[in-house]
Amino acid sequence: METKRRVFSGIQPSGNLHLGNYLGALKNWVELQDEYENFFCIVDLHALTVPQDPKVLRRKIRELAALYLASGIDPQKSVVFRQSRVSGHTQLAWLLNCVAKVGELSRMTQFKDKAQKGGAEAASVGLYDYPVLQAADVLLYNAHLVPVGEDQRQHLELMRTLARRFNGLYGETFVVPEMFIPPAGARVMALDDPTAKMSKSSPTPASYVAILDEPDAVRRKIRRAKTDSGTEITASPEKPAITNLLDIYAAATGRAVPDLEEAYTGKGYGDFKKDLGEVVVETLAPIRERAMELLDDPKGLDDHLEAGAERARGVARSTLHDAWAKMGLD
Ligand code: AMP
Ligand code: TRP
Repeated sequence: METKRRVFSGIQPSGNLHLGNYLGALKNWVELQDEYENFFCIVDLHALTVPQDPKVLRRKIRELAALYLASGIDPQKSVVFRQSRVSGHTQLAWLLNCVAKVGELSRMTQFKDKAQKGGAEAASVGLYDYPVLQAADVLLYNAHLVPVGEDQRQHLELMRTLARRFNGLYGETFVVPEMFIPPAGARVMALDDPTAKMSKSSPTPASYVAILDEPDAVRRKIRRAKTDSGTEITASPEKPAITNLLDIYAAATGRAVPDLEEAYTGKGYGDFKKDLGEVVVETLAPIRERAMELLDDPKGLDDHLEAGAERARGVARSTLHDAWAKMGLD
């Protein structure tokens, strides 16, 4: 039997999953699903790098599981599981901690941005070490491909560096993974500020469309999205707001931006936003409905996650033992 190459990706169970998470990540996972052997992880340990309320976190873990499945991740084709339930992730992270350099982690822009907000001195050590745990997530499964949004590029580059360095020091151990960043929807910007990334943790709900927003809320948010001066529906660096809306439209429908520009020649922002609102509702409404059904059966979701963890542990164990042995811990 031909063995399939592997995909690994993950999302943190914090905040509200939004259109950017769907277009930048989830949608592509679903599309890659048949061609690869897939590991889709709920990275609950990564969520702990900033303070979380345990009650909320518990609920968010199930919600994320429901959203994975409702988006079309099929547990028959993909291993869906929680990071904290496979101890190999933190065990391999330690080995990689001893290969990663302080200088490298200090250059990670996500850490610098997040640490700047609360002051670097007060940031958790976990937040600093976050990219090493992320590298362990992927290398543990010898995944070939990691589908993510644009904001993960630097973490993926570090992951590749760590894999190569380990292989160079101790002998061929890990697959050096490639990243998959989609041509459209890889960096969806905030609806109220096209210079900022659409973010799960934003205090302003109008800045993002949540996957679980009701259709009318989705329409309203798109209708009120910031626009640029002028009237033409064209993408350009001087028009970041309309460029973002065109990118969302393209990512959701698979149509090319020049094709959309042509279709909307002579039409106004109002018409365009109305259509885009419908496109986004058509994309998200079935996912929302399915997720709500799945959330009615929390035990069913927990069972899926536990069955996934069992399968993941089998793969993880053999990679971890190999890495231990290469380093002299056999
Ligand atoms: P996070 O929300 O940080 O857990 O990210 C989960 C996945 O969604 C990662 O693959 C991110 O790159 C992707 N992602 C997060 N925000 C956006 C965004 N605004 N646009 C596109 N992809 C995103
Ligand atoms: N750091 C990623 C994010 O915030 C989430 C993540 C953790 C991840 N481990 C991963 C993504 C492994 C891809 C592969 O988006």
